[in-house]
Amino acid sequence: MNMRRLSTLAVFGMVLFSGVAASAAEIESTLARGGRLYDNWYKELKTTRPEDPHPGYTGKATKNSWRCTACHGWDYTGDKSTGVKGITGAKGKPEATIVAILRDKNHGYGPDKLNDKDANDLAMFVSKGQIDMAKYIDLAANASKGNAAKGEVYFNTLCGVCHGPDGKKVSTGMPLGQASEYPAAMLHKALNGQPAEAMPMLRSFDHGISADIVAYAKSLPK
Ligand code: HEC
Ligand code: HEC
Repeated sequence: MNMRRLSTLAVFGMVLFSGVAASAAEIESTLARGGRLYDNWYKELKTTRPEDPHPGYTGKATKNSWRCTACHGWDYTGDKSTGVKGITGAKGKPEATIVAILRDKNHGYGPDKLNDKDANDLAMFVSKGQIDMAKYIDLAANASKGNAAKGEVYFNTLCGVCHGPDGKKVSTGMPLGQASEYPAAMLHKALNGQPAEAMPMLRSFDHGISADIVAYAKSLPK
């Protein structure tokens, strides 16, 4: 084989390899971004919260009524107080179908709120990024099924750097001991990051690691 042929092959191999690696990397970070938009899209996008409550919202706390979590819940099975169903039925649906739901008049997320990339990332999360919360959280007991002793090690090396060993150092948010009272929310945030903050997203690791951290956080001061 001549040198020219060899280098063509090498380049071809590199393109193939980087193509595969880039797409896997892209998918995980897109799913995490979609998860942060699901958490709080206007915070993630650094825009202002819509002034009027969502017209379809039937709950009391109207301040957050435009967040997906307000109606569909942190465990994706629907918010109990509003009676709205969850998004678990949309798992695996084509992104275009989900974008059409977001853009419809019931939902009202027009391009003024979510541009095409935002809507697509969110749809990716709904279709491919939802985890089975019941596998990691005992939903009836509202507690993580993770191992708190393992979680302490992960917490001290991954979270404590910002939140402090007692979980109280980020004073703009809740102490993590208090946040652990919402284990599905904490797991969602551990996997996808905190909207508009430089917080890591652990979704590319075994999700049991995040569940262990949530289990440990319960022992932190409130
Ligand atoms: C004010 C309440 C409310 C908010 C906020 C809301 N939804 Fe919904 N959503 C509903 C209702 C009610 C339905 C069921 C009826 C329908 O499909 O329109 C629904 C249905 C869905 C479905 C279809 C579920 C299925 O089983 O096929 C998806 C997907 C969805 N919503 C995603 C989202 C996302 C993502 C957000 C955040 C950008 C969001 N929704 C915000 C009320 C809401
Ligand atoms: C780079 C710094 C940083 C790291 C590392 C970090 N966080 Fe955060 N976290 C933040 C910031 C900043 C906020 C936003 C607080 C606010 O709302 O103002 C936050 C918010 C949170 C919240 C929401 C609190 C609330 O008030 O609702 C939770 C839960 C959380 N972090 C969990 C974790 C966990 C678990 C880890 C480890 C896996 C972690 N964080 C690692 C910076 C960090």
